[in-house]
Amino acid sequence: MCGIVGYIGNRSCIDIIYKGLQRLEYRGYDSAGIAVLKNNEISMVKSEGKLAKLEASLSKLPQDASRGIGHTRWATHGIPDTINAHPHVDGSVALVHNGIIENYLELKSQLQKEGVKFVSQTDTEVALQMFIKLYKQHKDPSKTIFALVKVLKGAFSLGILLADHPDELFVVKYGSPLVIGRGQGENFFASDAMALVGHTSKFCFLNDKEIARITPNEIEIWNFAGESLPLQFTEVNISSASTEKQGFRHYMLKEIHEQPRVMSSMIKRFVNADAGTLNIADMGLDKLDLKRINNIHMVACGTAYYSAVAAKYMIEPAAGIPVNVELASEFRYRSPWLNRDSLVIAVSQSGETADTLACVKHAKDAGAQIFSICNVQMSSIPRASHATLYMEAGPEIGVASTKAFTGMLLAHYLVGLAMGVRRNRVSSDELKRALNDLRNLPALVEHAVDSKADVEKVCAKYYESTNFIYMGRGTSFPIALEGALKLKEISYIHAEGYAGGELKHGPIALIDRHMPVVALCPRDNQYEKMVSNIEEVKARQGRVIAVGAADDEALKVIGHDYLVFPEIANPALQAIISVVPLQLLSYYIAVMRGTDVDQPRNLAKSVTVE
Ligand code: AGP
Repeated sequence: MCGIVGYIGNRSCIDIIYKGLQRLEYRGYDSAGIAVLKNNEISMVKSEGKLAKLEASLSKLPQDASRGIGHTRWATHGIPDTINAHPHVDGSVALVHNGIIENYLELKSQLQKEGVKFVSQTDTEVALQMFIKLYKQHKDPSKTIFALVKVLKGAFSLGILLADHPDELFVVKYGSPLVIGRGQGENFFASDAMALVGHTSKFCFLNDKEIARITPNEIEIWNFAGESLPLQFTEVNISSASTEKQGFRHYMLKEIHEQPRVMSSMIKRFVNADAGTLNIADMGLDKLDLKRINNIHMVACGTAYYSAVAAKYMIEPAAGIPVNVELASEFRYRSPWLNRDSLVIAVSQSGETADTLACVKHAKDAGAQIFSICNVQMSSIPRASHATLYMEAGPEIGVASTKAFTGMLLAHYLVGLAMGVRRNRVSSDELKRALNDLRNLPALVEHAVDSKADVEKVCAKYYESTNFIYMGRGTSFPIALEGALKLKEISYIHAEGYAGGELKHGPIALIDRHMPVVALCPRDNQYEKMVSNIEEVKARQGRVIAVGAADDEALKVIGHDYLVFPEIANPALQAIISVVPLQLLSYYIAVMRGTDVDQPRNLAKSVTVE
């Protein structure tokens, strides 16, 4: 949450910083600002709302300034107005911040007693004023930062620009992500390597409690104790095309369309189809002692959590190990039972979600093995894990997760099988059959995406509804949860997902003729139960949108409306296919309601604060 970016070199920095912020806007879009340095003077522009609103003011900055910092905000402390926008500047110091200064009230009152006047409601201004106070004592920027980090509590990645040190930028990394990009005669920093696409592919991913001094030609890193650290650069290539809409109206629609490709490239990497085997080493699992594990905890948030709910149906039976699935924000605070025989699987698209990362650190300290399933390369969760399976789905920019979700489901399926193989629970014949089911998966997902015009027609009937219920059983239950989340996120319609069997334990009281109920009905072992659930809804005048196979004539006549998915006799893979019409349903409803599909209100793609 919040994106920061900085540049120091010999080129004009405004466009570099602005474009970097565009790529970081997924992290927050409440306000934006840029501060640059020219002739030992700081100039700044800020505006509330999306980054595009800042563009008109960029001409007010000295165009040839070659040092600067920028920020795109997801508001935590203080409303999203211009005053609370970053950078925060006082005289010769400008500062941008990603995170939360938890002791800001205490520090603020201390500074106020000393006569400091605050202009904003932010916690960040406290960090700025504390820096200024300490700078007066220490005179030297790095010594000041060593003192500053002793005083601040919470999570803080900072970028600092000083008018009296025009050839240096300073950054601090604690809790929120920060990467330094190395160029030739120029250097950069950003919350995410993606911000620097087209400028460099050499990245130094800072660890927590690190401070860096960046000049056009030099980078120095210390830990919070002031010890100098070696620089480690990683080559990361991100194509700029992958960060563009490529003709689609929204990133979300583009990402829905990318799912068949994500499926086939994951299958290619992890499955040796001819031999009927899995590339278990490429999945990262060989780095773990799988035989030792006797309990698995899956931790995640949001959509990633719903993928983990589905994973329980895949991993537990195949691996023969009990799987506990838990919200990361709960797991981290409840002293879970963990030991060296535990495996914690952290699932996260961004690899940066604060609660999931905290679970990883906690479980590691408790001696558990940590496996992560992530998308963003070299992000914090993989770096803190013993092993990682990367989905390599490409940048997911729409705030509503789509291709990462189906990538996670496929990863869970393959991980379950791999554990089953390693623990001698899945025979080679069973594995061959399970892998054979994958052959058609990309084509079936593509087929589901192709049904978008039919989905759109159904949306036209329901887009003004104010509530929705989604229901499913077995692996369709987590898909119902995910379908409801998608609708909430981008259309702002209240929606809840339930297991079909739960409906009569309360939610059925909500059903009346105004309530659309999306019912997932693959012809699996719970099909008849779902049909009964639909009848119960209809008996109470609920509007049923049944989702099932194209040739399920019986189901077609039960519901008021019908969405089709390709059917497959493998419940795990059916879940991957079934979610596609629900993604499209939420997408077209949001479009019809005129909401901001890719950047829905109040949300950010990467949740790096608690
Ligand atoms: C998904 O549509 C959401 N935007 C959100 O729930 C997301 O899945 C959650 O914040 C977890 O993110 P992560 O996968 O990056 O950890």
